[in-house]
Amino acid sequence: MSNSGEAELLHTFKGIPFTTRSSLELLKSLDTFDAREDDVLLVSYPKSGTHWLAGVITKLYNTQVTITSPIEFGDISQLEELNKLSSQRIIPTHLDYNMLPPNFKNKKCKMIYISRNPKDTAVSMFHYYRDNPNLPTVDTWTAFFDLFLKGNVVCGSWFDHFLSWAEHEDEKNILFLFYEDMKKDLPKVVKEITLFLSLNVSDNDIQDICEKSSFSEMKNDTEKENSDPTHTVCALTSNRKLIFRKGAVGDWKNYFTPKQNIRFQEIFNEKMKLSKM
Ligand code: A3P
Repeated sequence: MSNSGEAELLHTFKGIPFTTRSSLELLKSLDTFDAREDDVLLVSYPKSGTHWLAGVITKLYNTQVTITSPIEFGDISQLEELNKLSSQRIIPTHLDYNMLPPNFKNKKCKMIYISRNPKDTAVSMFHYYRDNPNLPTVDTWTAFFDLFLKGNVVCGSWFDHFLSWAEHEDEKNILFLFYEDMKKDLPKVVKEITLFLSLNVSDNDIQDICEKSSFSEMKNDTEKENSDPTHTVCALTSNRKLIFRKGAVGDWKNYFTPKQNIRFQEIFNEKMKLSKM
């Protein structure tokens, strides 16, 4: 990683690296954010399938909802913009549980946490870093692998992020989903989402929504749209091709060396041993 790039593009807040597109002033003000009871939070560590989930969720509503850019993205005006929205808000965020504005917790807002095999997440993030000029340069997979394991990447350690949320798995207002389950049986997961959000959607409509949310459909759709990077789920790029890369389970096998796999597994086992999930 080039040091000058890193210095310009990332900064650290409460020990977690953020891109400089999340201003310090905004990060410091998050605690004061006024949540609404009907806000729905879409939570993820980057590259876990956030866009996919957002694509599905927005199709489930027949009332007007607005999917905003991530709450932690932008300058201080972001909070004002969110306050101004009159429709129901679906707010994406990559924040660790401990950094979430307390009002979301106090008001028991519904939150959906999507998670993905961290090995595939790491590979996906490697490509995102490599191809995105808004992130520091990484020269090789080996270099990125080390940064990922140390949590020295945007949004910090995958393990810390996951564990901070997994501790709250028994809370009724938080639904945990896995990318791999969505790949295996999307209609089943979508049904689960509708029940959680108390939305009345017929099985036929669910089927239709799933077809429209396939990787190829979403990739095609995105190539047609001209998206404004400040108003999308991933506010770090206007190049949507970077988001819909491969959409597969197990791509890590094409990148991890046997040695890297053992190292990753050891760290995974150690860090996750306290998690029931
Ligand atoms: P890959 O880089 O492995 O292809 P996020 O939205 O959190 O940034 O996650 C991006 C990852 O989700 C990318 O993974 C992307 O291809 C995958 N993805 C996006 N839409 C998808 C879909 N409809 N089906 C399966 N995977 C999808």
